Amino acid sequence: MTKDLGSAREHYTKGDLRRATMADDPMQQFAKWLTEYSSLNRVDFNAMTVSTIGKDGYPHSRVVLLKGVEDNGFVFYTNYESDKGREMAAEPRVALTFFWPEMERQIRVEGLVEKIPEADSNAYFRERPRESQIGAWASPQSCEVDGENDLSDRYKAMVERFKSTNDIPRPPHWGGYIVRPKMIEFWQGRPSRLHDRFRYQLQADGVWSLHRLAP
Ligand SMILES: Cc1cc2nc3c(=O)[nH]c(=O)nc-3n(C[C@H](O)[C@H](O)[C@H](O)COP(=O)(O)O)c2cc1C
Repeated sequence: MTKDLGSAREHYTKGDLRRATMADDPMQQFAKWLTEYSSLNRVDFNAMTVSTIGKDGYPHSRVVLLKGVEDNGFVFYTNYESDKGREMAAEPRVALTFFWPEMERQIRVEGLVEKIPEADSNAYFRERPRESQIGAWASPQSCEVDGENDLSDRYKAMVERFKSTNDIPRPPHWGGYIVRPKMIEFWQGRPSRLHDRFRYQLQADGVWSLHRLAP
């Protein structure tokens, strides 16, 4: 039976945030937090929620894996023809959310997404396990499929197609995106619900502003 949701609450005590110790560049602050979180060896520590805006005007959210952090962006990989791929092609404004409960931390990102260069997608695709490479060819991500056997039949057909090559090419419908942030907010849980929140905002002159927000 589900525990009582109304009385479920944590007392956050693991840290605090001070203006003086926040990095000037939020990507440096993110890298520091990610290093700290990755050292806990949690399953899918690099998972993040990506929210896109649909043609219906609704935000659509799903989890993907963060696969790269660059000076100016967050990289992930997916199917370009999936729902999210089509939505990002039509509307590049997206949001990312990271929730790291063991550290009582949340990070929110908003920015513009674009495809990464094909050469970079090719390089990452080459590193993937063979089964994942075949899966990328076999799965028409986000499309309705007929029954349980449809996907495994598609998978088998791709195993057959590529049986004589060790070097499976990247499907044209699969590759990476980079989210270039315009806003990054760091949240650290604190006692008495007086959580610490700091929001970085990219100014027109390319400099990041930084403000503390009420929780
Ligand atoms: C832990 C986890 C990691 C995932 N990683 C990815 C990923 O890196 N890329 C991806 O396309 N889907 C990933 N998915 C699946 C997505 O959440 C989603 O089901 C899929 O991308 C289809 O989304 P869409 O129909 O909105 O485009 C992951 C799901 C989970 C739960």
